[in-house]
Amino acid sequence: MNILAVESSCDETAVAIVRDGREVLTDCIASQVDLHRIYGGVVPEIASRKHMEAIYGLADQALAQANLTRREIDAVAVTYAPGLIGAVLVGVNFAKAAAMSMGKPLIPVHHIRGHIAANYLAYPELEPPFLCLVVSGGHTMFVDVRDYTQMRILGTTLDDAAGECFDKVARVLGMPYPGGAALDAMARRGDAGKYELPRSKSGENPYNMSFSGLKTAALNLIHHAQQVGEELDIPSLCACFTAAVSDTLVPRAVLALEETGYRKIAVAGGVAANSRIRADILAAAEKLGARVYMPPLKLCGDNGAMIGAQAYYEYLSGNVADMSLNAYATKSILGEAL
Ligand code: KG4
Ligand code: ZN
Repeated sequence: MNILAVESSCDETAVAIVRDGREVLTDCIASQVDLHRIYGGVVPEIASRKHMEAIYGLADQALAQANLTRREIDAVAVTYAPGLIGAVLVGVNFAKAAAMSMGKPLIPVHHIRGHIAANYLAYPELEPPFLCLVVSGGHTMFVDVRDYTQMRILGTTLDDAAGECFDKVARVLGMPYPGGAALDAMARRGDAGKYELPRSKSGENPYNMSFSGLKTAALNLIHHAQQVGEELDIPSLCACFTAAVSDTLVPRAVLALEETGYRKIAVAGGVAANSRIRADILAAAEKLGARVYMPPLKLCGDNGAMIGAQAYYEYLSGNVADMSLNAYATKSILGEAL
């Protein structure tokens, strides 16, 4: 089954064609990052306009690269939530028009389910059940992936997403948007023991997390140094910040593996590209004898292929939409309104 998949929830317009949920025939992306960088973050109106400009050409490019005609497309999939509402709407309306004109089924895909499914592309042998740590610019959560479309949220961040904090700290340090990858590179040269930063404490639900205290502490440290004219060791600050994020995520991942009894942990989302977090998860999982699944960096960020992968399983479980499909800025991974 060839699925044409559309993703436009933030600042990448992406159209991919994926066969049977596992084989990427083509994965076309038009990134807007350079444009938004001027403003230090994503400007929603600009994102929507640029999606509109790029999406038709990208779909034609995807078909040409896969050497397929429209008739050889069996379904159209699209991210319908969550994201910047204007941006998601562009993708949803395009996908509706494409599905209708080709007379093919329309498959709605939750963006975070797509991030999880990036693992199916990277690891053809991976099948649920498994534990997934989702860490992106907008989400941080532990998901019990019981089946391809049956999930349970073990815990989430109660405030900021990990990626948001990476970007904010990076921005204050003068790194260009989105600063996560630059902060990661800088951290590799630093001493992770030099500055003391807080770790998220466990509340009633041991899987829930908080990152706003860490973000504020890091920003205060930077501002205080600027005010008193003290020179900060930037690589070490980056290393300490990254270590604090990792120390929040990894023990919870270990607990979840122990409690679920799973011996498979996948990571998903842009922050899953972080070198320290990857290394810490690998080391912790090895101690438990658990296998770690980490998509290559290209599949960690937003892309259309991950939407096409999840769409196949949504379709198999009967999840198809009609022309009344709407876009949603927020919606839980379980499909519930938030
Ligand atoms: O999943 P994603 O592409 O978009 C959302 O769905 O949110 O994640 C983007 C986030 C940004 O915050 C970016 O700074 C972060 O992923 N990121 C990283 C790294 N690479 C990307 N954060 C930490 N270390 C990295 N190497
Ligand atoms: Zn994403």
